[in-house]
Amino acid sequence: MKLSRTLASRLERLARKAAKTSYSPYSRFAVGAVVLAGSGKTYNGANIENASFGLCNCAERTAIFTAIAAGEHKITCVVVYTPTQSVTPPCGACRQVINEFGPQARVISICDSDDRIDTTLEALLPGAFGPGNLA
Ligand code: THU
Repeated sequence: MKLSRTLASRLERLARKAAKTSYSPYSRFAVGAVVLAGSGKTYNGANIENASFGLCNCAERTAIFTAIAAGEHKITCVVVYTPTQSVTPPCGACRQVINEFGPQARVISICDSDDRIDTTLEALLPGAFGPGNLA
């Protein structure tokens, strides 16, 4: 999807701010995400870790699940902030969850430098398994 400069910078600001709510006592890696949903509203998320490490939830999935729980059905853009100098892309699990609600979504990664990735879910997860494959 196309984003105006104003909207893109608003989403980036929200993703950075969302990292402040991260619960990451184990990794000390505070990630923030924001999704732009079909209604035009935004939903924030941060990573939420657990003493049982395998249950850690990434910022992207927190934001997406928050949007869906609020009644949204579609995700058009995901912006993720990591506290790094080099930008990092979403993990495989998050790519699969983005695909469920936003196969056409734009995915932007930002960090503490000017480094950035501005891409699409389709490029990150080509040939994805999705709802249509169950039909
Ligand atoms: N993490 C995210 O929240 N998003 C990503 O895109 C990469 C990793 C989280 C999971 C875990 O809480 C911490 O970062 C270290 O992997």
